[in-house]
Amino acid sequence: MGAQESRVLRTAPLATPTDLKPNAVRDLAGELNILLADMFGLYLKTKNFHWHISGPHFRDYHLLLDEQSEQIFATTDAIAERVRKIGATTLRSIGHVTTQTS
Ligand SMILES: [Fe+2]
Repeated sequence: MGAQESRVLRTAPLATPTDLKPNAVRDLAGELNILLADMFGLYLKTKNFHWHISGPHFRDYHLLLDEQSEQIFATTDAIAERVRKIGATTLRSIGHVTTQTS
């Protein structure tokens, strides 16, 4: 695949079938992407506590926060794929996440 063909494919509209009107796709995708960015933020904050907690209950909290972070992370794929399913695009980078957090 040449550079020209690659560029065309990158900017091609998504041919994802949906019954939603374009305004609804835009609004839903916008809100879902904000939610997704917030989930990544919450995931990292939870990991932060998991990594840095100390004290007499270290082990219990360390394990609890790890389990919680896994559950938070597990939601991200479903949210992102829901955005794609309605024909919109979702987050592409950490930089993109920082522009979407509420
Ligand atoms: Fe860990």
